[in-house]
Amino acid sequence: MHDFSYVGSELHCEGVSVKALAQRHGTPLYVYSQHTLTDHFQKLDRALSPLSHLICYAMKANSNQAVMRTLAGLGSGFDVVSEGELRRVLAAGGKAAQCVFAGVGKTEQEIEFALKEGIYSFNVESEPELERINRVAERLKRKAPIAVRVNPNIDAHTHAKITTGTYENKFGIAFEKVESVYARASKLKNLKLAGIQMHIGSQLTDVAPFEQAVRKLVPLAAKLSAKYGFEFISIGGGIGIVYQPALESGGLTWWKTTAARKILTPSVYATTLVPLLQPLGLRVLLEPGRFIVGNAGILVTRVEYVKRTGKKNFVIVDAAMNDLIRPAFYDSYHEIVPVQNRSGGRVSSDVVGPICESGDYFAKDRSLPKVGEGDYLALLSAGAYGSVMGSNYNSRALAAEVLVHGKESALVRQRQELADIWKGERTPPWLKK
Ligand code: LLP
Repeated sequence: MHDFSYVGSELHCEGVSVKALAQRHGTPLYVYSQHTLTDHFQKLDRALSPLSHLICYAMKANSNQAVMRTLAGLGSGFDVVSEGELRRVLAAGGKAAQCVFAGVGKTEQEIEFALKEGIYSFNVESEPELERINRVAERLKRKAPIAVRVNPNIDAHTHAKITTGTYENKFGIAFEKVESVYARASKLKNLKLAGIQMHIGSQLTDVAPFEQAVRKLVPLAAKLSAKYGFEFISIGGGIGIVYQPALESGGLTWWKTTAARKILTPSVYATTLVPLLQPLGLRVLLEPGRFIVGNAGILVTRVEYVKRTGKKNFVIVDAAMNDLIRPAFYDSYHEIVPVQNRSGGRVSSDVVGPICESGDYFAKDRSLPKVGEGDYLALLSAGAYGSVMGSNYNSRALAAEVLVHGKESALVRQRQELADIWKGERTPPWLKK
């Protein structure tokens, strides 16, 4: 489900014309649909209703305050990975008591801040981290709630850069070592063994790896919970989305045909996993990021030039890899559609940005409608790991972001001022003349 569709020939987000937004706020511009966000959260929440559960939205996917506030208002918790993320939760009206703190490199300062704010749990990734959390908690005269992140050594069959649940990568504690790590943790006086956690990877489009991992984890969780009295089990994030909608003759039908494609729906996810988790009697946490926000956002860009070389048709747009790095970084596919549909045939094109790298592209040899200077294009499914992975490479300002709500829209991040890019830089005295 999504709320981007054509009204006549013009792309709309809910009740708002995307072209009007691009003209008002300029491009590159991220546009988010509040209804899509809400709908995705609620679908997952409802599917899990047979379980006592908490969705901890993985805010690394999109931490814009308006997105966060929408989700906090729906009762979402958050999966945070830094002090900055936890501070963002608090700024958006979320509660630390609904947050889990993940990540392999938590600093003492981050641990202290999270403890003082009353974090629900630390997802612990190593033995030295356990010792460190215990030490900080002792100093603060508190008990720190922890869950060990189990690495179940299961291949999630996703892109190598976003798989996390095998022994090839840095995350979690090897399945075979987990019991001894809990035994050690139980001797550390300032820790409370609150639960157990795993996350096997991102953009999983099949339920099988989730099922395999849960089947492997549940007996261990039951055994350890009997011993230590857990409150929860967290099964991580990773629910994949559709990036590549079906094409039909006559143009894009866009996500309308996704049902016909293989897609991991909340209902398939829940129907498979709920019966496996229910007997544990524990609160179930999950950490979806992309599923909630991925298809709730698009990146709107303006065509600057169309350049034909001997071999290729290059559509040069004003967005670049600094705005959306996924194609350059993971070879990711993002559907590209015109903001204003017009007849005129299609042409095989490379859509590229202005950055001085050949990796700065959004599509290669893609059949696209013919476009010219001044036309707007929309890169779909850009709500997750889009703006948050933005950078200032080539001294390009971070893009503006807009949230749409029915017929209303609001700027939720202003375009960065160019001078702000270098405002933290200082000239050393010997260069001041
Ligand atoms: N929990 C943990 C511990 C994670 O490391 C992640 C993502 C999530 C939850 C959320 O995963 P999701 O539900 O969004 O798949 N930048 C990459 C994705 C990196 C994912 C990192 N960890 C991309 O653009 O595809």
